[in-house]
Amino acid sequence: MAFPENFIKELTERNDIADVVSQYVRLNKKSGNNLFGLCPFHSEKSPSFSVSNDKQIYHCFGCGKGGSVINFIMEIENLSYPDAIRFLARRVGLAVPEDEKDENYSRRERMLQLNRDAARFFYDQLSTPSGEIARQYIIKRDISNAMVTSFGLGFAPDSWDSLVSAMQKKGFTKPELLDAGLARASKKGDGGVYDTFRNRLMFPVIDIRGSVIGFSGRILDDGEPKYMNSPETLVFSKSHNLFAMNLAKKSKMGYIILSEGNIDVVAMHQAGFDCAVASLGTSLTPEQARLISRFVNEVVIIYDGDGAGIKASQRAINILRELEIRVKLVRMVGAKDPDEYIKKFGAASFANLLTGSEKDKNYMLADIAVKHDLTTDEGRIAFLNDATNFVSGFSKNVDREVYSYRLADMTNVKKETILKEVERLHSKKANKWYKNEAKEEEKPVKMNQPKTKSIHFDDVKSATAEKGVISFLYSDPSLIDKCSELDENDFSDQLLARLFTEIKKQIEKRTEPSISSLSEYFTNEEMSIFAGTLNKPLELSNGEKAMINYINIIKAQKLARLNSAGNSSILNDFASKLRESKGYGG
Ligand code: CTP
Ligand code: MN
Repeated sequence: MAFPENFIKELTERNDIADVVSQYVRLNKKSGNNLFGLCPFHSEKSPSFSVSNDKQIYHCFGCGKGGSVINFIMEIENLSYPDAIRFLARRVGLAVPEDEKDENYSRRERMLQLNRDAARFFYDQLSTPSGEIARQYIIKRDISNAMVTSFGLGFAPDSWDSLVSAMQKKGFTKPELLDAGLARASKKGDGGVYDTFRNRLMFPVIDIRGSVIGFSGRILDDGEPKYMNSPETLVFSKSHNLFAMNLAKKSKMGYIILSEGNIDVVAMHQAGFDCAVASLGTSLTPEQARLISRFVNEVVIIYDGDGAGIKASQRAINILRELEIRVKLVRMVGAKDPDEYIKKFGAASFANLLTGSEKDKNYMLADIAVKHDLTTDEGRIAFLNDATNFVSGFSKNVDREVYSYRLADMTNVKKETILKEVERLHSKKANKWYKNEAKEEEKPVKMNQPKTKSIHFDDVKSATAEKGVISFLYSDPSLIDKCSELDENDFSDQLLARLFTEIKKQIEKRTEPSISSLSEYFTNEEMSIFAGTLNKPLELSNGEKAMINYINIIKAQKLARLNSAGNSSILNDFASKLRESKGYGG
């Protein structure tokens, strides 16, 4: 989908990169024109993540990620290009041209606006006198203010029409409130409506684009039903969304914790497990699993030890497995749910519970066994597949041996056979680890190669000069005069050639060079190379000399490449003649 150039220009002008980035990264430590902070894309202790105000780019010297403000949002919010555009447009109240043509669009936008205003209303109620009961509840449940803010918790007052009348004052109509599921039609049939959510702690359900799409309301006492959720609407579908996925998608944990209760999710986030989500009162659906699979390939399910809990998690396992998501089951021991567990035993103990190290290995094996039918041959084979894999991860020889024998008992398969398989898997894992280590060690040699995996410079010497030309040109467009002899065909690297051409075009059009317009056409990895290139510290007073020098290198390298290519084509010729003369044919 192509957005108009003018629109992208306005969008990026209004979304200043430093403003946007500061919402995620604490930027300070000025160095020249750059702001620095801790990189949100890899873990580090000293800041190597830089934001340049005048260039409107970000770039991490550590992991190499970078690009325009659009790429930043794509990366950090895990959004596609068009969704990142919508996200930024919403941030500054700009209408997205493509969307306006869509008929349903204005109804959707209206409903999202209503939901957002309603969330704001519920939130504000927490600081009114009538919100006292909810404040008390929040304190009783040990929910911190930080969590109240990051989840946007709120309170629906114990009244028939407080939300309805507040929203009507804002210009929303009764039909709009009904459509959004925030009001219900009165049974009297007099056209009256009343608030759907009353006297409940409110949890906005926010989708991965950051829109409030619906609500869950928890009762403040032991009454029933415990949870009330928004009905299905134009913008809300329970089966397609997960509570807290908007937050969990940004987690660095690398997996998702799936639980049931919203309070549990809040408690886990509060304890640092920011990857916790809950399904919205349904058992996990294939659509929810697909949503998860966009971000991670491992899920930890925390389930109730009762029969229903086990059944539900078995269904979830099957759905997740189909998407090749690794699944781990964790059963609460000594507490009814994660919230209680963390309060009783602390976050560290909860972490151990998740990694399984706190658990008896037997218990883990039993958990694996639960997933298979050991009375059938297929079931036992499938079980052994999982179980040998699990046992092969033990670092102690004696553990592997003991547990292999236990597996033999459980399945009636020969001990030796199982131990052999376990040892085979074990050395495979060990080898993989060594290989990764070796790769790390090789790194310094590749310094001048991009940090991103999929991009490689064939001619590093030329590419370095090409990057030099581009960075000078970007900072000082008047240097374009020095480039009259330089052609994109002179470049050794396709990607850099395209960037050069693009910047040249912009300068010729007399627009300030900007890479935001490129975000649509290049991948985040490619944009990272660009940002890295543009972010190179320059001594602009050397610009002319440096340009000439770089261009000379580029030309010389091109000649060298042509020569070696020429040689090999002579060789090829020679080889094919030889084949012909020997009668091998063409
Ligand atoms: N549930 C629901 N709608 C939601 C969230 C949960 O209907 N949006 C249902 C789940 O299906 C499950 C129960 O509520 O049956 C979850 O309860 P629990 O885990 O006890 O919820 P918590 O919020 O953690 O409450 P508690 O304070 O009792 O732990
Ligand atoms: Mn709970």
